[in-house]
Amino acid sequence: MSTFQAPKGTYDLIPPRSANFLAVRDAISAPLKNSGYGYIETPGFEDVALFSRGVGESTDIVSKEMYAFETKGGDKLALRPEGTASVLRAALEANLHKAGNLPVKLWYSGSYYRYEKPQAGRYRHFSQVGAEAIGTEDPALDAELIILADQAYRSLGLRQFRILLNSLGDKECRPVYREALQTFLRDLELDEETRRRIEINPLRVLDDKRPDVQKQLTGAPMLRDFLCDACKAYHEEVRDLLTAAGVVYEDDEKLVRGLDYYTRTTFEFVHDGLGSQSAVGGGGRYDGLSEMIGGPSLPSAGWALGVDRTVLALEAEGIELGIPATTSVYAVPLGDEARRVLFGLVTELRKAGIATDFAFGGRGLKGAMKNANRSGARYTIVAGERDLAEGAVQLKDMESGDQEPVALDALVATVQAKLA
Ligand code: HAM
Repeated sequence: MSTFQAPKGTYDLIPPRSANFLAVRDAISAPLKNSGYGYIETPGFEDVALFSRGVGESTDIVSKEMYAFETKGGDKLALRPEGTASVLRAALEANLHKAGNLPVKLWYSGSYYRYEKPQAGRYRHFSQVGAEAIGTEDPALDAELIILADQAYRSLGLRQFRILLNSLGDKECRPVYREALQTFLRDLELDEETRRRIEINPLRVLDDKRPDVQKQLTGAPMLRDFLCDACKAYHEEVRDLLTAAGVVYEDDEKLVRGLDYYTRTTFEFVHDGLGSQSAVGGGGRYDGLSEMIGGPSLPSAGWALGVDRTVLALEAEGIELGIPATTSVYAVPLGDEARRVLFGLVTELRKAGIATDFAFGGRGLKGAMKNANRSGARYTIVAGERDLAEGAVQLKDMESGDQEPVALDALVATVQAKLA
């Protein structure tokens, strides 16, 4: 151990578990790549105002959890707590919405930072794969996004997840509801902080997990009863499309997301094996965000799935991804001349696309064979002076233990044929 440790709320991805993270990122992005989404990468930090305006001043993410700082040059920046505002900022900056067909469909993968109280499944540095479809209002687009996330989770073998679905209304009907809710909430027995929340973000009060608060919330006005006809019809269409696609979801009228930009469709993927941090992914429609950050009207929708929690969900369900051993061939030289020859062969095997490793450090045969075993390699190549004098190496099958000499110039083809 060194003097240093990973900062509080963070952890390192190390082999072999780190392979699951790569596999999860691949599994989530595969359906997106297959559906017209192009890859986008944005900086790890942005102007702090992008998030306070976009995600919302009153959200926990902005008011409590943002890593905001001033640079030596006086710029006020923040480590990105989420991806949507950044992706939309980048799309607007590059004029992608003017360049071609709408929607502009983008996917991303990266690290995000929130100064949260760390616990199992909740970290200060975490990783998301996300998708944003910018510039189109169409219930089929909302449905597409949910279907693709569902596909991603199913392709990983996950079964114990549920999709929670809600509509948050639009700029016509939500303000009316907001006021009705505020009137109801102001009459309740609540602490100071919650009272403040009633004024800035009353919908979040519905999300309060404390039993004494929940008890008082019975009879609260529900947004469902306030949705305007356009929002109702839109939501019905999303639900019908999901049902037609065979995607099972649950209506959850209490689903309020922790970011302020949502309108209409909102959803969350929750996993039942994860305890309190059960949301493995979430998203929805954000028709007003572009205007909130100074852009034109661009109705959009998207989601982000948490890679860390998805890996935890796999572990909770006991799913082994069957990731093959990374090394196929391990080369063990006996003596200096063999070292030079085998090192050359290793490079040739690798050029031929065969995952190969080498016994570095000139350890004895016993130690080198132990390393060969640990590597998971299917074949080991062993050669000493006598083999080389005969122009051959010994090829050992690590499963059967069989060993045979193979001519140096036939090695690559022989190994290729055996692995095929
Ligand atoms: P979010 O619900 O804040 O949405 O985050 C999405 C997912 O990221 C969560 O469901 C969770 O799996 C993971 N996540 C969030 N915070 C943490 C944490 N502290 N530790 C571990 N995992 C975490 C968004 O970020 C939106 N930008 C999603 C979106 C995209 N909406 C529209 N487009």
